[in-house]
Order: sequence, then C-alpha cells, then structure tokens
Amino acid sequence: MVLPTRQNVQKVLQHFDRKDGVIVVKGKVLEERDDTDVEVDFRQESSFYYLTGVAEPGFYVAIDVATQRIQLFAPPVNPDDVIWMGLPDSLETLQAKYDVDEALYTTDLDARLKAASAVYTIPQFKLSFDAPVKMASEEDNKALYAAIAEARCVKADWEIEAIRKSNKISSDAHVKVMEAVKAGMNESELYSAFLNESIRQGAFNQSYLPIFGAGKNAATLHYNKNNATIENATDLILVDAGAEYNYYTSDITRTFPAGGKFTDEAATIYSVVLDMQKACFAKLKAGAVWEDIHTVALEVACEGLVKAGILIGDKQELLDKDVVAAFFPHGIGHMLGIDVHDVAAYCTSGERINRPSYRYLRMRRTLAAGNVVTVEPGVYFCDFIIDPVVKAPETSKYINVEMLNKYKSVGGVRIEDNVVVTEEGYYNLTTAPKEIAEIEALMAEASSKKRKLE
Ligand code: GLY
Ligand code: MN
Ligand code: MN
Repeated sequence: MVLPTRQNVQKVLQHFDRKDGVIVVKGKVLEERDDTDVEVDFRQESSFYYLTGVAEPGFYVAIDVATQRIQLFAPPVNPDDVIWMGLPDSLETLQAKYDVDEALYTTDLDARLKAASAVYTIPQFKLSFDAPVKMASEEDNKALYAAIAEARCVKADWEIEAIRKSNKISSDAHVKVMEAVKAGMNESELYSAFLNESIRQGAFNQSYLPIFGAGKNAATLHYNKNNATIENATDLILVDAGAEYNYYTSDITRTFPAGGKFTDEAATIYSVVLDMQKACFAKLKAGAVWEDIHTVALEVACEGLVKAGILIGDKQELLDKDVVAAFFPHGIGHMLGIDVHDVAAYCTSGERINRPSYRYLRMRRTLAAGNVVTVEPGVYFCDFIIDPVVKAPETSKYINVEMLNKYKSVGGVRIEDNVVVTEEGYYNLTTAPKEIAEIEALMAEASSKKRKLE
C-alpha cells in the first residue's frame, strides 16, 4: 500500500509562508558499529518519513514550493552493496511504491537545486552541496521546521490508525506482562514478555527504552536497568513500555501489584492517580490549554494526598508552594506520533515555566483536533525529591512524616494512555486495563490458570 504522504507535504506547505524555492530534506544514512562493518539498526529520520514514507537509507526529497512537485532522490546503485544486499528498487519501482511525482538518483540532485531561487532545509541538518546552491536564511529554515512541526502534530486519519495499531499491540503486551508476573521473578523476565508479544505481532522496535520497575525502582521516573529481582508479592510494578509499528509509536504505563492484589496503601495512591487522569480527560478537547490540564492533575493529586493524610494544609497554599510537585514531579504528557516525544513541544509556542510544579511540562500549547497526546499522571515516593521538602522550614509543616513513611513502600504509580483530541473531547487509543477491579480480576484468572498447569 502506498502511504498518502502527499497529504503531509501539502499540510506542511499550508503552514510554510514562502512562495517559491525548493525544500530539501535528507534521509538518514546507514551507520556502522565502531570499528566494524556491522550496521546499527536503521531508523529513518522522522520528518523525512513523514514527507515520503521511505524507510530506506541514503535518500533525499525535494519539494517545489510553488508547484508542490515532489521528487525523491535514491542512492545510485553501488555494485559492492548489490553483492551483499541484492539489487535495490529501480526508479520505476520507487515511483510506484511512494507517493511522489518522480524518482531520480542523488547524482541528479545538485543539478535540480542549481536552478532553485532558494533551498530550504531543516536547520539541524546543515546540508551542503557540491554545486553552487542558493541556501535559504536561518530564519527561513526555522520557519520550515515550524511548518513541519505544526503539520506533524495534527494527525491524518491514517496516522491515527497507525498509532491505534501500535497501541493495540502494546496494550496486549502489557496484559501479557500482568499475566506473567510473580514475586521472585526478575524485572528482565517482564521485559522479555513485553518484547515477545510485540515482536509476535510484528512490532520489531520499541518506541523508547522501556521501564520495568519493581518496588522502589518505580519511583525513578526513567528507570531502565530492568534487572532487579521482584522481592514481594505486595510490590507494585511500574511498566512504561510502548511498541512502535510502521514508524508510529505508543507510550503506555501500567502499574500493578506483583501478587495481583493491591494493598490498602497501594490502592489509595493508585486511585489518586486514576482520578488525576480522569479529571484531565474531562477537560481535554480542542481549545484546551495544556498547562491548564496539568494544573487539574496537580489539584486532584493535592486533594488525594491530603485525604490520605500525607499532606496537611490548604489546597491552594500547597499548590502555590509547589509541595505537590515533590510527589508529581513531571509533566502531564506530550505529543505522540512518529516520535514518542513528538514535535511541537516548545518550538512553536510558549516558554518553559520555571517553577517546580511546571518545569518538566514537555509542551505548552492550545490543543487542536487531531493532536495525539499522552496523559500520564503519577505519584511517587522518591526520597531524593521529597526529603528536601520535608526538611525545608517553609514546607516541612505541610507533610505528615508518619503518614509519608506508611506510604513509602508504594514506590510509585503512573498511569499513561494515548488519546486523540477532538472538537468535543477525546478518544482513547489505549486498551490495556487500568481499573483496580479489572487488573485484579485479570491477574487472578492468570494465576489460577498457572496453578492448574502446575
Ligand atoms: N516513556 C517516556 C514517557 O512517558 O514520556
Ligand atoms: Mn511513558
Ligand atoms: Mn510519555
């Protein structure tokens, strides 16, 4: 099937306020491991994939701004490569395979660009050509990158379907992990269960280094050693993992008890996090401001932690003093697409807010229909972050240390789903179970099946 990437090119051009010239984007080239002739895994540069659908190394694309004509430039046939890799596609095959007007060899690129009134490219790439070429200004190139980012963050229907597919595979893999886990196992066994299901369903790559953190390890936001023994049946396991399918990512977190039954403390904190997520969902729709969604999560976390007896004091005062950020120290989520932390973070809107409660927000913008975002609230018991707040004279009064110690064994809880923003609200692409009753039922059934087999 030819991916309709021409739609993507047209969308970029709608956001690019220039009348003529040629946009040139370079695809990624093959790299080798140091001092060997063994290739590292190839992954196409994301914007190049967005514009062409080409997942092969060594290509360029040229897009004529005035006519919207798309020319794909393939690496010329190298006899040495043919011996090892076989014959590459002919130009005719390439043109039929991709949504472009013409396929040529890269040896023709300089001649094409010599005549262009300006050559725009993504600023990070710093392209240079053998022939004299009129390169666009830095400002023009920044405008191009912003146009690509704006286009990429509003997904076409076929892109949403691709993300739905990667979500389905990952959701199934999360279920496999919940079914497999028991105390005494190593985190690495959960990792292998997740990979097994992903690859079984055709997803050979993960969207990022996944996190399989048991007990205290769940409190490290991007823990990825994934090699500790799961000590107790009561330990919570935090799994943040998402397969990539056909270049579209997923990013899902589930947290569940190793033995299949939440302790009272774990259930309390888990319910706070689930409430945070539900409250965010209720505000999610086109026109909503991302940092306001984050504020909703902070407010619900504050209410929940006060109710649990861990925090003491007036809600607004706790929020104003950034006390809640000691338990929820990251942002509520980010764009998702060809990259897991997808485009359009701060490049086209808003400055970072330099305050503990908002510092790690990955973007600030008003949401639009077609944005795909993660909503990933969490509550963590990380001494490194909490201790200074307990010790500081201006914040110590807000924390009940006895109750804090009672909850520390919970480690950390995060719940992360991937959703599509619409004019009226949102819809959720993540199908992995997350209600306490659903998780407990699923894990009870899996362990009864295991018992029957033993
Ligand atoms: N998996 C990284 C994140 O949730 O942003
Ligand atoms: Mn994640
Ligand atoms: Mn995420």
